[in-house]
This record gives sequence, structure tokens and C-alpha cells, in this order.
Amino acid sequence: MLENLTAQPADKILALVAKFQADPRSNKIDLGVGVYKDASGNTPVMRAVKEAEARIHKSQKTKAYTGLAGDPVFRDAMRDLVLGDSVPAERVAAIATPGGTGAVRQALELIQLAAPRATIWLSQPTWPNHPSIIKYLGMNMAEYRYFDAETRGVDLAGALADLERVNAGDVVLLHGCCHNPTGANLTYEQMAQVIGVLQNRGAVPMIDIAYQGFGDGLSEDAKITRQIASSFENCLIAASCSKNFGIYRERAGILMAVAKDADQQALTQQNLAFLNRQNYSFPPDHGARVVSTILTDPTLRADWEAELEETRKGMLDLRQQLADELRRLTNSDRFDFLSAHRGMFSRLGTTPDKVDVLRDEYGVYLVGDSRMNIAGLNKETVPVLAKAIVSAGI
Ligand code: LMR
Repeated sequence: MLENLTAQPADKILALVAKFQADPRSNKIDLGVGVYKDASGNTPVMRAVKEAEARIHKSQKTKAYTGLAGDPVFRDAMRDLVLGDSVPAERVAAIATPGGTGAVRQALELIQLAAPRATIWLSQPTWPNHPSIIKYLGMNMAEYRYFDAETRGVDLAGALADLERVNAGDVVLLHGCCHNPTGANLTYEQMAQVIGVLQNRGAVPMIDIAYQGFGDGLSEDAKITRQIASSFENCLIAASCSKNFGIYRERAGILMAVAKDADQQALTQQNLAFLNRQNYSFPPDHGARVVSTILTDPTLRADWEAELEETRKGMLDLRQQLADELRRLTNSDRFDFLSAHRGMFSRLGTTPDKVDVLRDEYGVYLVGDSRMNIAGLNKETVPVLAKAIVSAGI
């Protein structure tokens, strides 16, 4: 049987991790995979997470199964964190999932149950695992323009024109904040225009929100998701706790489906629990319990928010420092877009050849599409990167 296997395509982000690890140079800089690093290059366990884990360790009396949909306290706390009061709770069906990727996967499987012929529209570019999972599931997909290679901002006119071709019932995948891989985001006003087109076309929005709190702040980063959730009868939201709680390996995420009324919510909830059962039975609980412990305790929550805010501001400072350094070195404002981008990533907007030069000659690792993880930098490496960018002729 196993002789029939053929090699699967490598994930370009994860392949880069292996390449970086194998590089013997001591001055190499990893700006690849989307993992937050502090100034010393560590990915720390957040203070509130440590404390929540200690409390769970002390008080937990059982490891018996939770419900198929996961712990209701986690689901309620996450619904509140992401959606606020934008939609009534009785319209939201939700399941805990293994990370944000698990939520994306379950959302796509829900679409397969409800609308198997729907086309899923993806921003061009998007997180490479989006098209990979869609292709693996054998679903239809299409792309809408998103990134303006010239300005390194959003190509709003291109996006709106492409979205005019969406058919009724198609699903349009949007990033809730901190667009991955570009760092370029729609403003609230621009999103209102996108919403108008999607409503006219009868599309169903699906939002992937994996970096809430990394862009403009916790509630600011949820604004677009809330705006969409309150504007449509149905929408799907895949949210990750990996980054904003720093619990990458615990695999905590949530899929929420906004239904038109309580009856539809009950049916959707039953389908979501069924999907969990088919794929992995019960979702992982530890990370979800850490999250709900933090979100429901005012002291822990305040500390988590403070640390997340420090993290966010640190990334903004690095963006500004890099833009300033490049302004100085190039005597131009060509790289000012770096300080306008938000979240962990920025697409530099250069060719794969130049990305290779940065890696081979300067030990700077970017994803092949020139996405760089800003959080992989620190005050000392910013000038090194800026010099490498200029020397590589970017
Ligand atoms: C990334 O885009 O680097 C992160 O979302 C990690 C991943 O799983 O790809």
C-alpha cells in the first residue's frame, strides 16, 4: 500500500524553518515562520499563561472529556473577545478547535456540508495553507486581487472589481486583521465598500483572525470582524489563540458560525459538533482552559492585555526603526510602507532572486514571496537587515 504514495508539496514556511536550523552561520536572522520573539530571540510563555497553568494544575480534578464542542466557558469568552456585542449570542454556533488552522479546516468542511459547490475566494496573496487545504479537500477556489505591488498597500480597486464576479452563495475569505503575508490591511471605510459588494453579490464572508491584538489593539483589531458579523445573515469566523496568548503548541482556536436565527444556530451547532466528532472527537482542552481562565479573571486578563500591548508596541517600534533606517540609507521614502503595515508580517515586495541573495549572502531568512516576520527582529538586527536590503539592491 504505502508504495503508492507520492511526495506531497512542502509547506514553504515550514521548509524555511528547517533550512534556517541547518545554517551554521552565527549571525543568521530568522524572519520566516510567524512566531513572536522578544529582544533576546526567545518566544516567552506569557505571565498570565504561566499563572493560569499553575491555577489549573492546582485546581483541576479530572481530565475526563469535555463536550464535543469544547468547554462552553471558553467558547463564550472567545465569542465575547472576538465578536463583542456585534451579534446576539443566540445566533452564534461555536466549536473549540485545534488552533486556528483547525478552525479553518472545520469551516471548510462545514461549507462542504452546506454548499459543496461553492467557490472559496482567496485574497491574492494569502496564507499558503489556505489554498493548500482547499485543494486537498477538492473544493473550488478563486482569487481576488489584494496587494498593490507598487505601493505595497491594498489594491482596493482590483479587489472590488474581482469581487464583483463572485456568485451568490460563494464564500469570500478575508483576514480579520494583520493580513498574512502582506501586512497591508483594509481600512474600516474600505471594508464597508467590500461589504457592499459582497452583500450585492449574495456572498458569505469567512474571516480568519489569527493576530488579534498584534495590529492596532485588541478591540480595534476585532472591528472589521464585528462589522462583517453584524452585516450578514451568515458568516464564518476562524480565530486562533496561538499568537495573542503565545500558546502555539497547545493548539487552541475556535470556529464560530453566525446563523440567521436561533433555530439555524441550533442546527449549525449540531453540525459543528458532528464535524469535531468525525475529525478528532473532542477538541484539545488545555490551551482553551488557559485562555478561558485568563479571560474570565479580571486580574489575569488585565496582565495578559498589558503584556500583549507591550508586544504590539514593540513590533510597531521595530517597524518604525526599520523604516527610518531605510529612509536614511536610501535617502527616500520607498520603505515607509513598513511603518504603515500592521501585525507580524510585511511583504517587502521583492523578487524570489533577491530573497535568495538576502539568505545566501547575508544570512537573512525571508519567505520566498518576500514576507518577513517583524517580530524576528530586534534593535541590533534592524540596522543589519536595512543594510542587507540596500546592499542586495532591493
Ligand atoms: C505563519 O504564517 O508563519 C504562521 O501562521 C505559522 C504557520 O503555521 O504557517
